[in-house]
Amino acid sequence: MTPLFALLWDTLDDRLKLRAPGRKVANKVFPHHWSFLLGEIALISFVILVLTGIFLTMFYRPSIDPVVYSGANELFGGRRLPAAFESIVRLTYDVPGGLLFRRIHRAAAHLFIATVILHLLRIILTGAFRKPREINYHLGVVLLLLAFALGFTGYSLPYDALAGTGIRIAYTELLSTPYIGDRLAFWIFGGEFPTGDVIPRFFVFHVLLLPGLIIGAISAHLGLVARQRHTQFPRVGIDGHRWIVGKPLWPSQFAESATLLLWVGGVLVASAVLVPWADIVLQGPYRPGEVGNNAQPDWYLFWLEGALRLFPPIEFSVLGMTVSGPFFAGAVMPTLVIALLVVYPFVERRVYGLEGEWHVLQNPLDIPLRAAFLIGTFGFLLLLSAGATNDILSRLWGVPIETLTWVFRILALVGPPLGAVGIFAYSKRRLAAKGQTVASVER
Ligand code: HEM
Repeated sequence: MTPLFALLWDTLDDRLKLRAPGRKVANKVFPHHWSFLLGEIALISFVILVLTGIFLTMFYRPSIDPVVYSGANELFGGRRLPAAFESIVRLTYDVPGGLLFRRIHRAAAHLFIATVILHLLRIILTGAFRKPREINYHLGVVLLLLAFALGFTGYSLPYDALAGTGIRIAYTELLSTPYIGDRLAFWIFGGEFPTGDVIPRFFVFHVLLLPGLIIGAISAHLGLVARQRHTQFPRVGIDGHRWIVGKPLWPSQFAESATLLLWVGGVLVASAVLVPWADIVLQGPYRPGEVGNNAQPDWYLFWLEGALRLFPPIEFSVLGMTVSGPFFAGAVMPTLVIALLVVYPFVERRVYGLEGEWHVLQNPLDIPLRAAFLIGTFGFLLLLSAGATNDILSRLWGVPIETLTWVFRILALVGPPLGAVGIFAYSKRRLAAKGQTVASVER
């Protein structure tokens, strides 16, 4: 330690008694495996999102009132544009560094959601959700939903043609909820779409409410990881509950995380320079009444878009309320998928009669039910996502869109159950061949 740093440390320690707890924290052990970096990358992307978001907030105008743009872009010069869209054009062409910050923000948003999803997959694949970590797993499911909401509200803010179409679909979706649809839509959107309230509200959700909730949830999430300690991959002769093999927080893990931060920052800046993320000018402002036929949500919402496209356009009445196809596709199906994610840890424990705590990570093929759950659920979501590209594939392949819709309907209904049954049978045989049972796998 340099003398100046030592003096500062002694002065603080005199007053705050940092040494004893500081040593304990510095010695906390982190297991070494690349898959543990996914949560860290999600965390770093979130920090970059907040920092770049603060810059963007200083120039963004949350309103759809028309204003005349008078900046450097020739296409929009002198035109009346919704204020939100105008402020994004200004950020892009007239604010020094504005385009760079916009692109880093978009790239970080994609990386954040992608790594949260991959992190969730690693947790499920390896069984890191088992007792005593169920609470942290459920907190993670909440974080995943908050991340989707953050992404969707951010996508809406520029009020370009894509954003407006997305908001309109979400509005119609809410309206389709039996009994309370109109009230729900009114509470969230502040009136019939396109209402002037929607952008100011989404702005508050995007820059205040959702980041606040995510920061609170991440703090609790990491607090629980520290309290319950990490899981680790099996190591011959080591009791995973009592011993964790890895690097101490200070200095090894700290150095690794700092390097990761520099890498993630570097890749995001490079991608912002090379990839035209966030090129809203191609889209133009949203004009209610004009329906674009190439509207597509961001990739992580393709599964919802696919469900809306593939579900048959049925409508019927029960007990005086009208139930429609979009309600099943956009509300019932996602609720069932989330419910499945929430209850799965309890189902696995119950089905195999597992007791006690589990700290050693596993190969999912050692747990047939989990392998089937993963293939069934994620296969279904991937096929729905593929269904969201039926218009593009129809143009590319010259196949009528109705034919493709039917192909995806059949694939999404038949493929995942078949895959789940197949992998279940395979893992069961594999386990029996090793002479093991699910309960005899290492903890
Ligand atoms: C904002 C999103 C998230 C962030 C920033 C985040 C961050 C982290 C970090 C840094 C760790 C420690 C390193 C690791 O074990 O990978 C961790 C562990 C964990 N996370 Fe997340 N996470 C997020 C979302 C999720 C989600 C969606 C789930 C699952 C539904 C989840 C479940 C868990 C569990 C169970 C652990 C403990 C794993 C173990 O000890 O092996 N997290 N998270």
